[in-house]
Amino acid sequence: MPNTILMGAQWGDEGKGKVIDVLTSQADVIVRYQGGSNAGHTVIAEGKKYVLHLIPSGILHPGKQCVIGNGVVMDPFDLLKEIDMLRGYGIEPDGRLFISDRTHMVMQWHRALDKADEAHRSHDKKIGTTGRGIGPAYSAKMGRSGFRVGDLLRPDFLDRVSEMCVSTNLRLSKWGAELLDIDTLLKDYAKLADILKPYITDTVVFINAADRAGKSILLEGAQGTMLDIDFGTYPFVTSSNPTAGGACTGSGLSPRRIDRVVGVIKCYTTRVGSGPFPTELADATGEHLRQKGGEFGATTGRPRRCGWYDAVVARYSAMVNGVDFWAMTKLDVLDEQPTLKICVAYRRDDGHIYETFPADLSALERCTPVYEEMPGWMTDTSKTTRYEELPLKARAYVERLVALSGAARLGILSVGPARETTLRLGI
Ligand code: IMP
Repeated sequence: MPNTILMGAQWGDEGKGKVIDVLTSQADVIVRYQGGSNAGHTVIAEGKKYVLHLIPSGILHPGKQCVIGNGVVMDPFDLLKEIDMLRGYGIEPDGRLFISDRTHMVMQWHRALDKADEAHRSHDKKIGTTGRGIGPAYSAKMGRSGFRVGDLLRPDFLDRVSEMCVSTNLRLSKWGAELLDIDTLLKDYAKLADILKPYITDTVVFINAADRAGKSILLEGAQGTMLDIDFGTYPFVTSSNPTAGGACTGSGLSPRRIDRVVGVIKCYTTRVGSGPFPTELADATGEHLRQKGGEFGATTGRPRRCGWYDAVVARYSAMVNGVDFWAMTKLDVLDEQPTLKICVAYRRDDGHIYETFPADLSALERCTPVYEEMPGWMTDTSKTTRYEELPLKARAYVERLVALSGAARLGILSVGPARETTLRLGI
């Protein structure tokens, strides 16, 4: 398989876990390049449901090598829980899991600060974070006071942890938030070096050596383009770059070594947390999509906001990421809709038309979606195993989405949660 970046094209939860799982069969090395345990990649394989937050789902495939790249922020205690969970299923990560020595860690105080910061924002300023410490961990990285995985092996590690706990407690006490129990934290952190040492690797060298040896590399993103710190609906975003550019900075593989970009996109739209969502349906249709699509957060269990497909988002995403192939997911969720709406542009109250996503969120508040309508197919598509078997109206809908969403071709269409319901069209 060519070296591939796989990224989310909307607000996350596009079904990347399933598409990654399918493409993994052709890859040798699977690299997670950003985000942290805010993500939840769900894979259903042989009747079992696995939810992975940090470790690439490639680990479910025997013999595949999996890397947690330098662009990730990793909570080491979450990682240990995930390793235990895998062992509980009889999957052994030892010898196949590699963690970059440059990966920053989400430290316990980052979680405390994430929650305290959200609690102190006024209602309209809340981001609706997952509370997993992601923002504070990336802030520490950029502020050059972060803790990297490689630091676990340094003799001054616990002294630095202790200093940081003391200064964080001063901040937390000003907010009236619960303080860190420094002694317990120090004991917990003291155990980590020995447990994690076997996984700690210079993964930049590892990934590039694999590439030179002709192995194929799958770079997997978490979240999605509209949650990107640069290109998303700032400030209602996550603190990393889920977009394709983040795959190179988050792994150390050069852009010149990337062969193709696969964008995962749902046949409708969802979002968790606060922030603009132009095609949101706050009605019975939105509720139907939520129930039928199981649209509840894999990490926090929060109900996802649901709405019509937004081709403005798709077009913007295709441009920012250079999407070559779409992997479209969850078509079957639309099986009961007599009429489908597709947003093709946004119209501002003064008549201005937006065909790609504007940076200015206040302009968005003055916009309404311009919709096209298509007839629904009113047929169960969830057992389909070949594209040609789909009802003509369902194919027409998918083909219209592709035509409206930039130059990318349709590579995968998914019509249900299991591996078998992933229709492959030339990738
Ligand atoms: P954070 O990443 O926890 O800081 O949260 C920032 C925003 O990104 C919030 O709106 C979250 O709901 C959203 N978010 C973070 N991770 C995911 C994800 O995996 N899927 C969907 N939304 C996410």
